[in-house]
Amino acid sequence: MVGKKIKIGTLISGGGTNLQAIIDSCTDGRINAQIMFTGSDVPGAKGLERAQKAGIDTFVVDYSKIIRHVKDDLTGSVGKNNMSSVILPKGFNLEEIRAKQNLINKDKGSERIDFFLKSRAVAEQKLLDHISPYEIDLLVLAGFMRTLTPYFIDRINTVPGKFRIMNIHPALLPSFPGTDGYGDTFRYGCKVGGCTVHYIDYGEDTGPIIGQRAFQIEDGDTLEVVKQKGLALEWQLYPECIQKFAQGLV
Ligand code: GRF
Repeated sequence: MVGKKIKIGTLISGGGTNLQAIIDSCTDGRINAQIMFTGSDVPGAKGLERAQKAGIDTFVVDYSKIIRHVKDDLTGSVGKNNMSSVILPKGFNLEEIRAKQNLINKDKGSERIDFFLKSRAVAEQKLLDHISPYEIDLLVLAGFMRTLTPYFIDRINTVPGKFRIMNIHPALLPSFPGTDGYGDTFRYGCKVGGCTVHYIDYGEDTGPIIGQRAFQIEDGDTLEVVKQKGLALEWQLYPECIQKFAQGLV
């Protein structure tokens, strides 16, 4: 393919079938890009093997461990002298991030929100430490099951008005945001399901939509069938949307 290849980074949490579709599309030229790394929040995620097999650098930022650590620290259950060992990233401004975030409803109470934002910023800084050296054009979330806070987003989206983080969601947004799009679609009794590729903004699955694909849910389809129909469309849609970005079309 002619033209300069863009550099993309990928984040996953699980099996990585979308990652595989993106790897294959980069290899056969349907996407004019090079995958620079695959990061995971889950140690041992199967998708990491797929990346390694393709010769892609991998890393892990163990979110569960980090969140546990921050929690223990803030509740005073670690450290003999009750000394805090959690170091918040330099430049972390809680008030600013609290005002920007749209992930947690303000009614949930400021303690819960502040814990969420602090613990995620610690993890997100580790992600940034891994990601920064690669100088990527686009960050692709391929089944990355963590929400990203304004702390991270603002450090990737450094050009005002230019989105650089893409996500795939297993439902036709704005319906059924959250972690179980196909499950929610199925249980609601929808007759049509689908998937959405969108940019990440400060909310949960609320960013600008780049592409969508829909499928029929027939009488008798099980949740498993719905997931299979949806995933098959995801594997087509995601590479197409990344290629549109590479061409400067979105
Ligand atoms: C996909 O259904 C994606 O839409 C959702 O998580 C799933 C990831 O699957 N965000 P895989 O890891 O790409 O196989």
